[in-house]
Amino acid sequence: MKPIALTGIKPTGKPHIGNYLGMYRPALDLMENYLGMYFVADYHALTSMHDPDLLQSLVYEVAASWLALGLDPDQAIFFRQSDIPEIPEFTWILSCFTSKGLLNRAHAYKAALDENLELGRDPDEGINAGLFYYPVLMAADILLYGSDVVPVGLDQKQHIEITRDIAEAFNRTYGDILKVPEGLIQESVMKVPGIDGRKMSKSYDNTIPIFAPEKELRKQVMRIVTDSKRPEDPKDPEEDNLFSLLQFFASPGRLEEIRQLYVHGGAAYGSLKKELADLILEHFAEARVKFEDLIADKAYLDRILLEGAAKAREMGKPYLMAARKATGID
Ligand code: ADP
Ligand code: TRP
Repeated sequence: MKPIALTGIKPTGKPHIGNYLGMYRPALDLMENYLGMYFVADYHALTSMHDPDLLQSLVYEVAASWLALGLDPDQAIFFRQSDIPEIPEFTWILSCFTSKGLLNRAHAYKAALDENLELGRDPDEGINAGLFYYPVLMAADILLYGSDVVPVGLDQKQHIEITRDIAEAFNRTYGDILKVPEGLIQESVMKVPGIDGRKMSKSYDNTIPIFAPEKELRKQVMRIVTDSKRPEDPKDPEEDNLFSLLQFFASPGRLEEIRQLYVHGGAAYGSLKKELADLILEHFAEARVKFEDLIADKAYLDRILLEGAAKAREMGKPYLMAARKATGID
């Protein structure tokens, strides 16, 4: 049997180019050599999203995105996290092998805590226990199926390390029961910049959404922040946000031409932005058509997700049973 590559994405916003380059594409590329297990992490989204209609519609958007971008549900196991009742159960078992100190240091929780401290508020203000437990839930996602590798963006590296720590703590107590996974982080696309130059992220409202209507997508690209240099001025391509994004979509030959224009003068931001928008629309042309068909057929999406969940549950059962047996709660 092929080794397992597993990854999930939270339905908290519209999928963007950073997600695609950092996660969807590398994850889907693994399907040749791995059994891919891909899921919509709606329990994770619940830590921050408390609007039920929005959550539901984003679950469908993310599911349709996976399929439109090339996930073949006959080859991979594709499901919704909340369709796996074993996940909350396993999360509890794992939490008993997770040192609280490890969770205190987790980036997302720590950032919320630090912000409160900085503003002179109660340290726990506005922080739900779900956010604190987030890394344990993620460890359950990964460890339940005996995943071998977990393709994610750089920001998820710490979560993979926590998962490994939890698995090792469990195995130290009961023997070699859980598989300790490896993170698979694409160095070349560690951080895709957003239109303002910070990391592209839903939280910064600086994304280029893959499936937005053409007009909206073009508008976002035109909003990419550049400096005030004139076309004839020489510019440093390595320092430029627009150039960084062009790198992901222009052919090697054209990219070299653009680099020369930057270095020697002749690079006009406006026309390069238009070129980038054209390249993005061309790159995703087929996926965008597929997405429209899929998002219009929720019954199909539901069926595919449920079929995938049945397969995932079968994969997870032996690990959960072994863990229950080992602990004596069987
Ligand atoms: P966001 O930051 O927009 O909320 P998520 O945290 O939901 O995105 O990330 C989903 C996946 O996409 C993760 O594996 C993450 O590492 C990857 N990812 C998100 N933004 C980027 C980016 N700008 N560059 C590379 N990978 C990214
Ligand atoms: N925490 C991940 C993110 O924010 C999403 C996620 C949940 C995940 N469970 C996972 C990723 C398991 C990989 C494996 O992007």
